[in-house]
Amino acid sequence: KEQRQWRDIRLAGLGLIGRSFAMLFAAAGYQVKIYDIEASQITHALSDIWQQLIELQKIGLLRGSLSIEEQHKRIEGTNDITECAKGAFFVIECVPERIELKTGVHAKIDPVVSDTTIIASSASALIPSKISQNLKHRNRFIVVHPTNPPFYAPLVELVPSPWADSDVVPKTKALVEEIGQSPVVLKKEKEGFVLNRIQYSIIKECFNLVKDDIISVEDVDKVMSEGLGRRYAFIGQMETDYLNADGMRDHSKKFAEMSYRLQKSFKPPIKMEGEILDKIHKDIEKRIPLDKLQERRRWRDKRLAALEKMIRTMGKK
Ligand code: NAI
Repeated sequence: KEQRQWRDIRLAGLGLIGRSFAMLFAAAGYQVKIYDIEASQITHALSDIWQQLIELQKIGLLRGSLSIEEQHKRIEGTNDITECAKGAFFVIECVPERIELKTGVHAKIDPVVSDTTIIASSASALIPSKISQNLKHRNRFIVVHPTNPPFYAPLVELVPSPWADSDVVPKTKALVEEIGQSPVVLKKEKEGFVLNRIQYSIIKECFNLVKDDIISVEDVDKVMSEGLGRRYAFIGQMETDYLNADGMRDHSKKFAEMSYRLQKSFKPPIKMEGEILDKIHKDIEKRIPLDKLQERRRWRDKRLAALEKMIRTMGKK
C-alpha cells in the first residue's frame, strides 16, 4: 500500500493534541518521533501515553492489533527538532495557537525536509496561508485540525494551503483515514474552518438567549445535550432537515419562511466578558466547582467512550 512507504511520522509539541496524534499513529503501526521545546514534556508525554494506553485497553477501546507495549515502543523522543524533522515523510506541528510560535517551529522544520515531505499543523483557527507563506516548502503545507478528544471524536478538518501541490490533500486524507479518524476537506481556507464557525454561531445564540434572560444557563445547555446533540452524534443538520419532512423540498415548503424569519432576528455577537461572563461562570460553578473539573472530564470521557463503542458495534452508516 502506498501509505505504508511512509513508515514514520514526526511530531513537534507534546500537549493534549500532540500526545493524541502520537497514540493514533502508533496504534496504526507507525514509528513516531516526538519533540518538544520543554525536555520534561517528552518524559511526561511518554508516561501519560502509557497510562492512557492502559486505560484504553481496560475499557476495550485500544486501537489496532498491536499490544500496548508495542504501541508505546513505537513512540520515541528527541531533544533536537532538526533530528526530529529530517528525512520525514509526514511531519505535524502541534504547538500552541500563536502565530509566532507556529512560524518559528516551521522555520526550523522547513530547511531539513525533502521536496515530497508533507508538512502539517494541528492549528484550530490560524489559516494555512498565514502559517506557511514564508516557507520554501509552502507547497507541501496543510492544516490537519482534530477534534478534542480525538479518540472519541474522530473528525479531522483538512485545510490545504492555497499553494498546496495536488497530491497533498489525497495523501493526507488517506493517512488520516488509515489511523481511524474521519477527514473532511475544505475546498478553500476560511478563518475558523468549519467546526469552529458552526460552534461559534451556536455560542453566539446561547449567549444572547441567556443575556436576554430567555432561558437559564443550565437549560440552554440541556437544549444541546438532550435535544440537538442527540441527533448530531449521528446525523448533521442537512440530513436532519431532510428527514424532518419528506425531503428538502418539502422541508422548504413547510419551514423556509420560519427559518429565514428567525435567522434575520439574530442579534450581533457579544464578547465573552463582563457581567454576562460572570453570570454564566457562576451558574455552571454551582453544578461543577473548579476543583471537580477532572472528575467531570472523566465523567464526560466515560460516556464518550461508551458512545464510541456503541457506534463501532452498530457501524457508522
Ligand atoms: P498544549 O498547550 O496542551 O501543548 C502545546 C505543547 O507545545 C506543549 O507541550 C509545549 O511545551 C509545546 N511547545 C511550545 N512551544 C514549542 C516550540 N517552540 N517547539 C516545540 N514545542 C513547543 O496545546 P494543545 O491543546 O495540544 O494545542 C496544540 C495545537 O492544537 C494548537 O494549535 C491548538 O489550537 C490545536 N488544537 C487544540 C485542541 C484542543 O482542544 N486542545 C483541539 C484541536 C486543535
